[in-house]
Amino acid sequence: MELERSEKIAPVLIFDTGVGGLTVLAELRKLLPEAPVIFAADQAGLPYGEKTEAEVAARVSGLLGRMSERYRPRLACIACNTASTIALDMVRDVLEIPVVGTVPAIKPAAAMTKTGVIGLLGTKATIRQPYVDRLEARFAQGKTLLRHGAPELVDPAEAKLRGKPVDRSIIQRAVAALREKPQGEKIDTVVLACTHFPLLIEELSGEFGQRVRLIDGSHGIAQRIVSLLDGQDFERAAPDMAVTTGLLDDFMPLSDALGRYGLDRIERF
Ligand code: DGL
Repeated sequence: MELERSEKIAPVLIFDTGVGGLTVLAELRKLLPEAPVIFAADQAGLPYGEKTEAEVAARVSGLLGRMSERYRPRLACIACNTASTIALDMVRDVLEIPVVGTVPAIKPAAAMTKTGVIGLLGTKATIRQPYVDRLEARFAQGKTLLRHGAPELVDPAEAKLRGKPVDRSIIQRAVAALREKPQGEKIDTVVLACTHFPLLIEELSGEFGQRVRLIDGSHGIAQRIVSLLDGQDFERAAPDMAVTTGLLDDFMPLSDALGRYGLDRIERF
């Protein structure tokens, strides 16, 4: 069936508090380079990991509702574990398009671990979610899942993409906190359950060492988006765009990094 032009140019909306969502966008670019994208960063709301469940749910569903009206996306991806584990169902109730969430990659981690001890690094809000309890009960039975809330890793990820140096002591402390938990020395697989954290993969790998495998859900999420868009036509009417809820002055230092992800326009939402 031939699509209307307005349908062909409808973007995929990728939403996060900040640069973490770029880790999902990078995987999507590999699988579906022709899809027009709007990358939305709720920089005015960052960090979500320190907010209450009610605050995150209200903010994410309100913003995504308004963004959908303005940008008319064909699909929305909540590229944020904190927002997804809290508000995915609510957002699905609000939007009339497919909504893909980002949830901790506990299932693949459980299939990979040899020692049976898995670490999970996320925001404080993510690690306490019943959604994570359910994933653990369903996929990690008989394994040990050690969770650590490391919200302090979000800022270094934001800084790194702005070309600033990463404070290694922050990485060292987060890794040590996970390792110091009972059985922590047996961890051989770590789930990066915050989309910001894969941006620090070199620093985290350096600290965990070669024997620990780090995994995140970005490839699986991109695959899910591709399967939901199967058979659709795409046309890029304008350069892909990044929008921020925060101040443009705070976002502009990201322009080089955003350009590397094919986001050549920057606007305020
Ligand atoms: N990128 C977000 C996540 O995956 C978290 C960053 C924040 O705390 O806002 O959870």
